[in-house]
Amino acid sequence: APSSDLQAENATISQGVVESNHAGFTGTGFVNYDNVAGSFVEFTVNAATAGNYEVKFRFANGTTVDRPMDVTVNGAAATSVGFPGTGAWTTWVEKAVTAPLIAGANKIRATASTANGGPNLDRIST
Ligand code: GCU
Ligand code: CA
Ligand code: CA
Repeated sequence: APSSDLQAENATISQGVVESNHAGFTGTGFVNYDNVAGSFVEFTVNAATAGNYEVKFRFANGTTVDRPMDVTVNGAAATSVGFPGTGAWTTWVEKAVTAPLIAGANKIRATASTANGGPNLDRIST
């Protein structure tokens, strides 16, 4: 896809809140997923050409427990992606996922799959 940053705080959020109390985010904040299974953030990603693209999730997890999420592209079968502890809520790292995109608008959704919810999510980059 054309290089782009998509801020989580501007995406579609279900069971999460936009916050800015942990430094190091980009844009205007990040999404604090509610600590429940099923909370999600959904991004719309435009690709000029269909293909497999690397999508990087920038996140922080200030706990020592992984916060896996199910990542779906256009509603297809989910891939479970780990978002392990980063050492602090102010320590942001990127996790790369391969996403099969169609030409045009794509929906990439990251849904928390445990009762801990997701990590704090800053953005995705393609
Ligand atoms: C803390 C932290 C939040 C985080 C939450 C969690 O409350 O300040 O940013 O989302 O822990 O455990 O999910
Ligand atoms: Ca949370
Ligand atoms: Ca952000």
